[in-house]
Amino acid sequence: MPMQPWFPDAKLGIFVHYGIYAVDGVPESWAFYTGEVPRDRYMRQLHGFTASRYDPRTWADLFVRAGARYAVLTARHHDGVALWDTAHGDLDVVRRTPAGRDLITSHADALRERDLKVGLYYSHSDWNHPDYASVIHPDPPHHDHVDSNPYVVPKDGVEDPEAWARYLTYRDGQVTELVERFRPDLLWFDGEWERSEAQWRIPELARRILAINPQTVLNARMLSHGDYATPEQGLPVRAPKGPWELCLTVNDSWGYRHTDDRHKTVGMLVRYFAETIGMGGNLLLDVGPREDGTVTEPQAQRLTGLGTWIARHSDAVYGTVAGLPPGHHHGASTLSKDGRTLFLTCFDAPREHVAVRGLRTPVKRVSVVGSGAELGHTSSGGLHEVPGMTWIDAPAPGDVDPYATVLALELDGELDLYRGSGRV
Ligand code: GLC
Repeated sequence: MPMQPWFPDAKLGIFVHYGIYAVDGVPESWAFYTGEVPRDRYMRQLHGFTASRYDPRTWADLFVRAGARYAVLTARHHDGVALWDTAHGDLDVVRRTPAGRDLITSHADALRERDLKVGLYYSHSDWNHPDYASVIHPDPPHHDHVDSNPYVVPKDGVEDPEAWARYLTYRDGQVTELVERFRPDLLWFDGEWERSEAQWRIPELARRILAINPQTVLNARMLSHGDYATPEQGLPVRAPKGPWELCLTVNDSWGYRHTDDRHKTVGMLVRYFAETIGMGGNLLLDVGPREDGTVTEPQAQRLTGLGTWIARHSDAVYGTVAGLPPGHHHGASTLSKDGRTLFLTCFDAPREHVAVRGLRTPVKRVSVVGSGAELGHTSSGGLHEVPGMTWIDAPAPGDVDPYATVLALELDGELDLYRGSGRV
């Protein structure tokens, strides 16, 4: 399946880690896996999960204000607690928590009412399932105690293939429910590192999903059947090959934690976002709502702040592709799909000039995105096939954006770059 065009066009998605872990504000699923919290105490959070102020329309409105085009909700994390009334097992918020209802239908409806695409996160692994710790990864990765954690490996090291087959039936049953009932545009898998591709039966699972809805986008944690790469918590230095998406928390946690007030500033988020789309990726920015379903004020404020910048610079965001490779401009950039407008992002206020190297296509006009102010420009030097330097007058202080100023360069033709080293 070729990549669905909506995905690279979306630029911003919102990741929502919503689950019982928000009750005590402990790390999502990991709290009992690492032993930070005993499992019975972790599971007692079921009794405190109310979703009493859960209003997916308020979320969707916030996501629209942020400039997002899709959202990904944790339908089931590694703790195995499903947010819908699953027919496979009984560990769900409908039967086991005061919330008492399916939380996904209303979420998907609210997103679709606002033309947002629906993504659902699903963990292949389930550390609470009695059949999960039944086989051993043939070549376990050297992290997260994959070869020794009791929630992952069988007791005494004895494998039980029948239990594993039951586990896969459960996982496949749940994934089928998600695809049939909610028709997600995107399935965001996770937890793949604990088993091999063959153990997960990845090709069979992909076939099953795509037979129901061939348009479902799958992330790279579907291993060989993933459609796009998922760097996590760190901007790649070089863009991954093909479509990709950086997932990033607003503070330091995926889920809600009372103790975490290390929120990134709006300026940092603008920078992450501009750098990401400048390298052709999407940003999937994560929030962790409280157990009652409300998004905290600092997180809502960051989303709105980023959205205000995006709205003012939407020409440089939507309908663009990756911009200049490194070496031409000190900052991020994007390019209109027709290749005729180059958008240069300046994170610092330019002083005398903004200088760009290697532009072969003449520049017709330069303006500041958002304010519309036109800027003078000239070029100097250049010999034979080597173009000179393009000099753009620095914008007036009133045209400088507090976070990142974007200059639109209208080119006299499609962008043609010089990538060489000059005469040697
Ligand atoms: C990691 C973590 C998980 C989180 C995910 C988001 O895989 O296991 O807790 O949901 O990253 O990308």
